[in-house]
Parts: sequence; C-alpha cells; structure tokens
Amino acid sequence: MTPSAIAPPLLSWYDQFKRDLPWRAKDGTQPDPYRVWLSEVMLQQTTVAAVAPRFNRFIDRWPRVEVLAAAPDEEVMAEWAGLGYYARARNLLKCARTVAKEHGGRFPDTEELLRMLPGVGAYTAAAIAAIAFNQPSSPVDGNIERVTSRLFRIETPLPAAKKEIKTAAAAMTPAERPGDFAQALMDLGATVCLPRHPRCTACPLVNLCEAKKSDLESVLPIKPVKQAKPTRIGQAYWIENSRGDVLLRRRKQNGLLGGMIEIPSFGWSSDDAPKAVKELTDHWTEVRPINHVFTHFRLELKIFCGRTDKEAIKNCFWAPVDRLTSVGLPSVMKKVAEESISA
Ligand code: ADE
Repeated sequence: MTPSAIAPPLLSWYDQFKRDLPWRAKDGTQPDPYRVWLSEVMLQQTTVAAVAPRFNRFIDRWPRVEVLAAAPDEEVMAEWAGLGYYARARNLLKCARTVAKEHGGRFPDTEELLRMLPGVGAYTAAAIAAIAFNQPSSPVDGNIERVTSRLFRIETPLPAAKKEIKTAAAAMTPAERPGDFAQALMDLGATVCLPRHPRCTACPLVNLCEAKKSDLESVLPIKPVKQAKPTRIGQAYWIENSRGDVLLRRRKQNGLLGGMIEIPSFGWSSDDAPKAVKELTDHWTEVRPINHVFTHFRLELKIFCGRTDKEAIKNCFWAPVDRLTSVGLPSVMKKVAEESISA
C-alpha cells in the first residue's frame, strides 16, 4: 500500500465527521497555540470526555498564556484537581512561565524547540507543531498507534513496534493539513477503528487497510500482557473541630499527588502527614475504607474519624467542611471526604 494514498480519503472523512471539540479551531480560523498546548497536556492521560468541560473552565479563567503564567500555583493546582497526574499541572505552570518570560508569550513553532519546554514530550511537541503550526509532524498517541499498526499490518508486539509505527505514521503524513491529518487519525481511532470491535464498514480507509485484508483488524496491535497492580494499604484521618472545620494538609511538591491538598494520611506514599495528627484524640471511629487505582498500584485507605479543638497542628490547616469543594481535592481524597461526611 502506498502511504500517500491514505490522506485524501481520511481528510474528506474528517471534513464530514470530525468531532466538535472545544479546543478545535472553528473552520477557516487559525488555531491558537495556547489552546492547542493546553488541550494536548490535559489529554495526555485523560479522556476527551473528562477533559472537555475542564478545558473550558480553564480557558475562561486563564484565557492567555501570560495570564496563566501570573496565576498563583495553588489556584492552578486546585483547578486541576480531579484530572490526576499532578506533575502535569506543575509542569504546565513552569511551561507557561517559560513561554511568557523567555519567548515573549509566543509558543515556539518547531517540534525541536517545543520539545525543550517543561512537560512537553515527543508526542506533545509533534501534536502542537502539526495542529497549531501546520508543520509536517506526526504525533503518535494510543489511537494513532492502533490505526497505523492496522493500516500497515505491523505485527511486531508493542512496545518494540513503536519505532516501526512512528516511521509508518511519518510516511503517511501529508505536507498539506498535517494537523487535520493527525486529528483525523485520532478521531478515526476513537470512533471507528476501535480496539476490540472496529467498525470497518464505517471506515474511509477500509480498502487500504492491510490488517483488514488478512483478518487481523481485531488482533492488532499486539499488546504486552499487563502486570497485575499491587495493593497498598494506608490510613486517612478525618478530624473535625467544633466550628465545622476539617483538618487538611498540602502535600510536598514532588511525588504522588505532589502539591495537592489531602486529608492527612499515612502509610501508602513517601509523604506521610505529621505524626502529631494521630495524637489529636484517643477516640477514633473507623468508617468504610475507600479504594482508588493509581498507575502502578491500587490503594485501600482505611478512614479514622475524630474530633479535636486544638488550634495549630504543624503543617496542617483548617477548612470549613461545607466549602471543601472549592479547595480542589484530588479524586482519592474526595472519596475519603464523601465517606467521612456521610458516616
Ligand atoms: N487526543 C489527544 N489530542 C487530541 C486532539 N487534538 N483531538 C482529539 N483527541 C485527542
């Protein structure tokens, strides 16, 4: 199959069926590199469905890169709460400040220069270069990996196949509309070329697909066997005072949930809350534990509820329970709060 045969039917399909996503430029308008960058960072490990509403809130609050660069860290971390992978939010701010200070507020327009920005890896640099700057770059995310390995019948198992897939993706990228081409592949992967049950009858590339010709469309790409996740067990302490406040703590900047606010917890990460928390009372009530899945492990957090009227607790602070939503708790801590409040 000639790689250059792929772009024309795929771009026609995209013109007709592309998803209406908030970060996409309206027809005939120039994409805003800031929006492209922000969406690509948000989409790195999070689904389109989860990102869409959060992207709009973010843009409403910080409409330009200079505005984001001037935002306090805590506000950005709170706005990111629930999206997970908090290193992304910390790098997002670093990147915004670098672009504002060192690039006069304009994103660089080549893959090579974009790659030097904090939090911008090979995929994100290629995506921004193609989508925002019309460079003939070929970003390869999970969807594009699947589509490409099928089109070219790449039977090498992942991750060894990555290089071969990148080469094939580059070979089919057109000089015209490379950004639309990349997004067309993403949309095709998300809506037609589905992992287990591809909808080949709806595919504009069905006659070009080498996997289809060999009945391998549901088999490729060959994935490595997933490792079972270990379980960690930790403890969270939900402590209220008689003013209706709950005790919270900001976690250290690096590591798991780095820079985020937590209900003081112990035993599951390298960042335990101060021991003094456990000594605030002798009367603890254990409520139902919560479970949460992180990338490399499952967490079971046992929850102990108690009361105190002691004022200052080292490295912790009080916040009204009825205003917890504005604090921006990460998902795992939202679960702890829900369980404790309803107990
Ligand atoms: N996933 C990552 N980037 C995307 C984009 N620009 N459009 C749709 N899905 C995506």
